[in-house]
Amino acid sequence: MADTIDTAGEFFLPPGKHYLCGHSLGAQPRRARELVLAELDSWAREGVDGHFKADAPWYSYHELVREPLARLVGARPSEAVAMNGLTVNLHLLLASFFRPARRRTRILIDEPTFPSDRYAVLTHLAHRGLGPEHLLSVPASDLEATLTNRGDEVAVVLLSAVNFLTGEVLDIKRLADAAHRQGCLFGLDLAHAAGNIPLALHDDGVDFAVWCSYKYLNSGPGAVAGAFVHSRHGDDVSVPRLGGWWGNDPATRFRMHLEADFRPVRGADGWQLSNPPILSLAPLRASLELFDRATMPALRARSLELTSAFLSRIEGARGVEVVSPREPERRGNMACLRVSFDPRPALEREGVVCDFREPDILRASFCPLYNGEADVEALARALARST
Ligand SMILES: Cc1ncc(COP(=O)(O)O)c(C=O)c1O
Repeated sequence: MADTIDTAGEFFLPPGKHYLCGHSLGAQPRRARELVLAELDSWAREGVDGHFKADAPWYSYHELVREPLARLVGARPSEAVAMNGLTVNLHLLLASFFRPARRRTRILIDEPTFPSDRYAVLTHLAHRGLGPEHLLSVPASDLEATLTNRGDEVAVVLLSAVNFLTGEVLDIKRLADAAHRQGCLFGLDLAHAAGNIPLALHDDGVDFAVWCSYKYLNSGPGAVAGAFVHSRHGDDVSVPRLGGWWGNDPATRFRMHLEADFRPVRGADGWQLSNPPILSLAPLRASLELFDRATMPALRARSLELTSAFLSRIEGARGVEVVSPREPERRGNMACLRVSFDPRPALEREGVVCDFREPDILRASFCPLYNGEADVEALARALARST
């Protein structure tokens, strides 16, 4: 095996546990505490002047994460922004990019779909006076055929780059090209992809994408989310959108009562609504520093090693069916298993933290920033002891 990526010591992990739940809530980077405390101190010391006089002024604080975030998802810096929550960002970007017209009134999504995405899409349709029959929902294996046969009815394709339940990785470039050939816009939910697999959103031609930061991006419960808008849309300030003062051109943002018109700034920043949550951005800074240190290609190589080692270790185990794709390039760092027994007592005994979804799905992720072989062994042992 390759050398362990030397970032494990940079995290607080639940003591005595094998923490395999990064697909749900990532571990806390030690520096997150320091960076949050620094902002609490600035607030105590400076009050409102912290907006411009703090060591890292709050007015431009969100800009500190722009470049590392863009690197992580393969975007140009102006195409990525940290704001809101994932579902809020999805609504904001659907408001811009779902423009039903004539025959092209449908949104195509992949199954299984995370409920929040489904609700977002259904309520967007309803908002435009369109019923649920305008939602086309198909398994990933049927996406290309659906695009070929019904692509001219589809306004937006919205897919999960890595599926939340199976861990399957989609071929983003291929699907984006297939959608564009049919004249559809192509958006992604990266909740399980950002920080898990290398991404090339700009080069793959993705139109828009959203992600959360509390899973693989280790930024804490309810952390500030991310959004990507391709420069071909972001550079066009006439793209319709829901506006707020933080998306306005910073040059006139503070002219409050003097400038009545909304003038969006270019780039993904032009979709911002509110002034950014500094205490939520601070942990994201800490986490992104570690991604920059470890680099995404090295993390991917290591996560494939750990996941492959785990899957070989449980090969042939009684009562365990592997749901995640077998081919390494088609899965992320999450192993998804269907089990014919209740694994919870043995997981508890071995100190393994992962998740079990009734009635029979176990999901465990091997996050190379802080997981290693001992975690692989602990989960394999728990499963062996369950049968
Ligand atoms: C695939 C997927 N999409 C959307 C969401 C919703 O995210 P949020 O609560 O940040 O809006 C989640 C949350 O776990 C998710 O896993």
